[in-house]
Amino acid sequence: ESRPSAAVPSTATAPRPAADGRRTTKHFLMCRPEHFTVEYAINPWMDPAAGADREKAIRQWEELRSAYEGLGHRVSLIEPVEGLPDMVFAANGALVVEGRVYGARFKHAERAAEGPAYLEWFVRNGFDRVHEPAFTNEGEGDFLTLDHVILAGTGFRTDLAAHSEAQEFLGRPVVTLRLVDPRFYHLDTALFPLNGHNVAYFPGAFSPGSQEVLRRLFPHALIADEDDAVVLGLNAVSDGTHVVVNAEATGLRRTLEREGFEVVPVDMSELRKAGGGPKCCTLEIRG
Ligand code: ARG
Repeated sequence: ESRPSAAVPSTATAPRPAADGRRTTKHFLMCRPEHFTVEYAINPWMDPAAGADREKAIRQWEELRSAYEGLGHRVSLIEPVEGLPDMVFAANGALVVEGRVYGARFKHAERAAEGPAYLEWFVRNGFDRVHEPAFTNEGEGDFLTLDHVILAGTGFRTDLAAHSEAQEFLGRPVVTLRLVDPRFYHLDTALFPLNGHNVAYFPGAFSPGSQEVLRRLFPHALIADEDDAVVLGLNAVSDGTHVVVNAEATGLRRTLEREGFEVVPVDMSELRKAGGGPKCCTLEIRG
């Protein structure tokens, strides 16, 4: 939006980098993976027979938390609940915009109890504008908030009806995007906001119509390739300057650096065995 339009004479010859030099200090909610296991399979990444190393997952999660704190972000914690091995994926717990908390309602019975657990955290912590959802939705896993629009995924987890429910409760325009590749079952596995007005994404995760919508909304988006997507490189968290991203997403890291972002690589390989990366472990509390 700060780019010169074609009608305005410009002396600039090289395109401007995507990073605009602004960063925001954020408040995140996280859940230590104390009960983490891979004991059921609700996405193609999960293999109960292969299992996962909980101690390693905890170490990787602690590094993610330190990375945020090192960048000056505030991290709050929700108490992990025994028997909810995926509760570490806090992004799915709610969508919080301007202090309004739109609760989650999970698609799979295995995670159903997480919705009320997260809502209760917000109520106990003084949030009084809370909406218990009527429709299936997995919080920030499928809702990504930019300055003027909320992008919403559907196709695997979140119901289309939840998009309009969220729009009505939050008073912000919600744009539907259709996910078509089961490996990228949540929107946040295929796209992340670079700042309030631009995104990075892997086009192959979206239907043709949704790819067109993304091209129209974000003509200057960073396009990631399949190699970056299959290590969950798009499951990243940007504060506008720094991008916390899976270390193995080497192509995406180079693109981000070229565009003026500072890359903060993290190793989330153990949590990826449940289909999660840094963003999945992170619920942003806005306002
Ligand atoms: N095993 C979890 C599930 O399938 C992973 C959730 C990842 N979270 C996310 N925001 N993409 O529900």
